[in-house]
Amino acid sequence: MSSGVGILGLGKAVPEKVLTNQDLEAMVDTSDEWITTRTGIKQRHIADPDTAASDLGYAAAVEALANAHADAGHIDLIIAATTTPDMPFPATACLIQDRLKARHAAAFDVAAACSGFMYGVEVGKAMMAAGYQKVLVIGVDVISRLIDYKDRSTCVLFGDGAGAAVLGAVRPGYGILASEIGADGSGAMLLHVPAGGSRIPPQIQSIEAGQHYVKMCGREVYKFAVQIICESTERVLEKAGVSVDQIRWFVPHQANVRIIQAAAERLKLDADRVYVNVDRYGNTSAASVPIALAELVESRKLSEGDLILMVGFGAGLTWGSAVLRWGGFEL
Ligand code: ACO
Repeated sequence: MSSGVGILGLGKAVPEKVLTNQDLEAMVDTSDEWITTRTGIKQRHIADPDTAASDLGYAAAVEALANAHADAGHIDLIIAATTTPDMPFPATACLIQDRLKARHAAAFDVAAACSGFMYGVEVGKAMMAAGYQKVLVIGVDVISRLIDYKDRSTCVLFGDGAGAAVLGAVRPGYGILASEIGADGSGAMLLHVPAGGSRIPPQIQSIEAGQHYVKMCGREVYKFAVQIICESTERVLEKAGVSVDQIRWFVPHQANVRIIQAAAERLKLDADRVYVNVDRYGNTSAASVPIALAELVESRKLSEGDLILMVGFGAGLTWGSAVLRWGGFEL
């Protein structure tokens, strides 16, 4: 049996500044009660104007490398999952590669919105099968830059952050047992930012019309999310030959606690096996799954051999899930 692809170490970084529901009450026509009951969110972290995606991504990467006992010089690929890169090019992964002095690493970005980390892990796993040894996957978004803080339907939902994971070889039977990524572009306009790309480049008119902000059909995205979480995770569980009862931790993308609860109920996962931190961070887009995983490890809630079910979903529409057996580090 050949070795598996596992996560050797994780890191996370969030900006210091906290934006609470009470702060938002003073900014738009909303209430702590509405936000809490509809989303489960109490606060989110917001980057200051000097902080870009590569800053948060770098900080998370440094922590992940330390936790994985890995040297940046031994990383051969860096994948940054982000839809809020520092700039259109170069890739944010290249900016992070330079700061890490990861001189032997190829580096590129993937854009799959909130599914970005799951996409990054899938690509990293495939690249390891092609011969790469250690892959750093970073999920990072400074999504506050795309939010209209006058639009109550979106501004209460999102926060900034980064999470990172070092992928490497683990003992057979450990690591990623099964995974998938998917997309349905017919839902592209349900969650999108109209301007700022080649269709509508940044210009005074587009900025005045607010076209550089996130536009979302909340209800449709909600329905898609619950459905795809269930369908995709059921497929990877079957592929892995694992039953839902064997899952120790369900780590879903943290968009809305009601989405998480509805999906967990359908999957028959009781609350003590569902990781939730959306109350403290809001939806951090590509950073949400790796931040949750990093917290699980930090809080020592993971033991050798525990099975984790992860799932991401988001704009595209996109999704990705994986079943991972934690541990098996000493080869
Ligand atoms: N405060 C007070 N009232 C509000 C707020 C707010 N912040 N936002 C909306 N409302 C109002 C609406 O105007 C509406 O009022 P109306 O009935 O008078 O028209 C009412 O509340 C109900 O609005 P709905 O949109 O029906 O509320 P819903 O229960 O669907 O919750 C929510 C909205 C939280 C956005 C939900 O639909 C949701 O979570 N959707 C998924 C969003 C998501 O996860 N997006 C990210 C995906 S991942 C990625 O890739 C980015």
